[in-house]
Amino acid sequence: MKELDWKNLSFGYIQTDYNVRCAYHDGKWGEIEISSDPNINMSMAATCLHYGQEAFEGLKAYRCPDGKVRMFRIEENAARLQSTCRGLVMPELPTELFTEMLKKVVRLNERFIPPYESGATLYVRPLLIGTTAQVGVHPAKDYLFVVFVTPVGPYFKGGFSTTPYVVTRDYDRSAPLGTGCYKVGGNYAASLRANQWAHEQGYSCEFYLDAKEKKYIDECGAANFFGIKENKYVTPLSTSILPSVTNKSLMQLAEDLGMTVERRQIPIEELETFEEAGACGTAAVISPIERIDDPETGKSYVFAKDGKPGPISTRLYHKLLDIQYGREADVHGWTTVVID
Ligand code: PLP
Ligand code: COI
Repeated sequence: MKELDWKNLSFGYIQTDYNVRCAYHDGKWGEIEISSDPNINMSMAATCLHYGQEAFEGLKAYRCPDGKVRMFRIEENAARLQSTCRGLVMPELPTELFTEMLKKVVRLNERFIPPYESGATLYVRPLLIGTTAQVGVHPAKDYLFVVFVTPVGPYFKGGFSTTPYVVTRDYDRSAPLGTGCYKVGGNYAASLRANQWAHEQGYSCEFYLDAKEKKYIDECGAANFFGIKENKYVTPLSTSILPSVTNKSLMQLAEDLGMTVERRQIPIEELETFEEAGACGTAAVISPIERIDDPETGKSYVFAKDGKPGPISTRLYHKLLDIQYGREADVHGWTTVVID
């Protein structure tokens, strides 16, 4: 393999050596298969292609300074996929099978795990699709679970630096009783126009309000929102956002730092009162927010006047990465050593 330019990787897709697969037929999961084929062969009538019976996950493997490779909170991602499966009437994948397949695919593609110093990571993408050929709108009987990996750089250019966001009122990504709390392709399809609109105007990402009242903060593109004020970590409580594993971890770390955590509805006007704000997620890690513009009201909520991330976001960012890279004691038992 030509040596990859690890330091300049974008958040893209690079084909690696292997993926792992497991099929579901006759009411049960089969054997784990290792494949070097990046393509999936299925019927054009498969339910995933027509009726969106598709679920995915996203997590990362980190090459650490002690030479080990760790993954972060695998069980949380397994649990979220199970919740998504219930939401889309798909068979749940047992946590042990999910974990075994993730470990296997990372080990098989070890040469694609970026070196520690590069700041890049190996992104792990589990994918579950309904494969039964049918045209009636009802759940498939057959499923395929695939896990592939790809080395990635930062989600936003520049990594840990502040970027501007824009409130979208013309597009919703999900409804209060819809699928926003599940990790399914349809939510991302629904976000593409808003994301394109935001990019066209020079913003790094679109910022969603709740779809029903357009009053409360939902999330930012493919990441959760948090605001910091008066030693408090404040993050939205909403049925239409994805329960982020990163956000859950940051809430714990904020508590560990002696902060108060508030998970509640956040009216958009409250943005004015935050000292710092950020987007968080596996891909985004913490992406500090420079400002959020609301074109309808003409308001601009500014969090970083000098373009520098705030002190608490910076502390949380380093604490999270220290745990993920095994540089700090993993007191909450969040990491799994995948390669010793
Ligand atoms: N919100 C959305 C819509 C996402 O796609 C993601 C990414 O997974 C997140 C939030 C962050 O979730 P996590 O921290 O589990 O990656
Ligand atoms: C993640 O943060 O893992 C995501 O899934 C974000 C995006 C690439 C969909």
